[in-house]
Amino acid sequence: MEKSTGKVRAHRTRIAEAGAALKENASKLNDTYRLHYHMMPPAGWMNDPNGLIYFKGDYHLFYQHDPYQAKQGPMHWGHARSGDLVHWEHLPVALAPSEPYDKGGQAGQGCWSGSAVDDNGMLTLIYTGHVDGQTPEEVQCLAVSRDGITFEKSAANPVIGDSPDAERFGFRDPKVWKRGDTWYMVVGYGKDGLGKAIVYTSGDLLSWTYQGAAAESDGRMGDMWECPDLFPLGEGDSHVLLISPMNIAPVKNLYLSGTFDYGSCRFEKGVSEQIDYGFDFYAPQTLVDDRGRRIMIAWMNIWGAAMPEQAHGWLGAMTLPRELTLAADGTLRSNPVEELAALRSDHKAYKGVALEEGSLVELSRVSGDCLELELVADVSSLAACAEIGLRIRCSGDGSSYTEIRYSAGERKLYMDRELGGAGDGGVSEAPLSPMADGRVKLRLFIDRSSAELFANEGRIAMTNRLYPDPSHTGIRFFARGGAAVIESLNVWQLEPVWPRVNWN
Ligand code: FRU
Repeated sequence: MEKSTGKVRAHRTRIAEAGAALKENASKLNDTYRLHYHMMPPAGWMNDPNGLIYFKGDYHLFYQHDPYQAKQGPMHWGHARSGDLVHWEHLPVALAPSEPYDKGGQAGQGCWSGSAVDDNGMLTLIYTGHVDGQTPEEVQCLAVSRDGITFEKSAANPVIGDSPDAERFGFRDPKVWKRGDTWYMVVGYGKDGLGKAIVYTSGDLLSWTYQGAAAESDGRMGDMWECPDLFPLGEGDSHVLLISPMNIAPVKNLYLSGTFDYGSCRFEKGVSEQIDYGFDFYAPQTLVDDRGRRIMIAWMNIWGAAMPEQAHGWLGAMTLPRELTLAADGTLRSNPVEELAALRSDHKAYKGVALEEGSLVELSRVSGDCLELELVADVSSLAACAEIGLRIRCSGDGSSYTEIRYSAGERKLYMDRELGGAGDGGVSEAPLSPMADGRVKLRLFIDRSSAELFANEGRIAMTNRLYPDPSHTGIRFFARGGAAVIESLNVWQLEPVWPRVNWN
């Protein structure tokens, strides 16, 4: 590692300044929409998860961060650590713009997204230095830490200073992993209107060889693939590629499952689908932990959304950590990690709840803004026009709510936030066939400004931010177009993981 040169000192000064600003800004937050059991920045802006890694017994989560303001400015890397994926501890800012290749000063510059690896016990970050100019300069850089907290940028930066083509639309978000003695890097890229995931290899993380595109858009998958993540999942050569494609509205995230050949560095696509069908899911990244689990976390917001919490001095949350598995047909399953059961309290269970056509049913002591619900319904005998569902975050007078419904005839799942409160409206929808036994199973995590829905054992995920009035905590179950029965319903209150602080 470098000696304490002037550059190292300059970076440390930037980090110390960021820490002081955060402390000050955190003391001024309005906590109306602060989440109770999701990762959020202490204050300021947060976007993509970066550098997800299980390192020396802890989970580390870095993130795109502006500690000075609740909008996208010169990007830093925030840093949090967890022993159980449920409780998070904020650590000092890890990276700040300080060098000509990542220097800050204006929005759209700085230490952009990337990943982390364990290089012989050294926690090493690989990130994109982004400098706006007439043509944005994007280069790949390293920063290294002995203690897992204080990072020094490599004197060899940028370790990849040129993209493979001069004419390109983006060259960023390196995700690095090791196989045998070789490091592999997948980088987000776009050229000639086609998003691509390009690959480099290295023996030492410093000198990289370009291997070409592992995969590229078939013409319908966007013109730049942000935040690619390529990893083994399932049997044999089976791999999954996660991408956040630009300019294919309304789809904002995709996975491709298939095979990756480490010799040719080519990915052969099988299935391709959305990872999450909600509005607020972007830039997912994964890690593999000591139990071999592939765990994914995504930014629980989306570029261009209304983002009401910005006015409150902060922006951004992470989704719950989700364990990924691959079904035999190559489709992805994502389920919240089992550790989250530690948050459950006050369990209530119902069986055989009859819902008449047109009903809106409240159940005794089933309400709140921090809840997990597990609902099972046999939909095989429902009328073709029947819908079964629930309204959450209902106002007392019933005029404001977010509605989750399953349409038996359409075989579709919806989350409708048109009457949900502040922020954007819109209806999320996903195709969903009943399970083999004719049932639909919904698992829903409600936090103070979010709802994450998992259907049929992780077959479908749907994530949305919700900004109702905090007093709107009602829950009402309904059937439409015919009667229906909730076969079983389990409800838990979920305990907060953050200290209940009222900064006002
Ligand atoms: C994705 C993204 C990345 C970039 C980062 C900048 O949300 O645009 O491509 O590295 O955010 O903060």
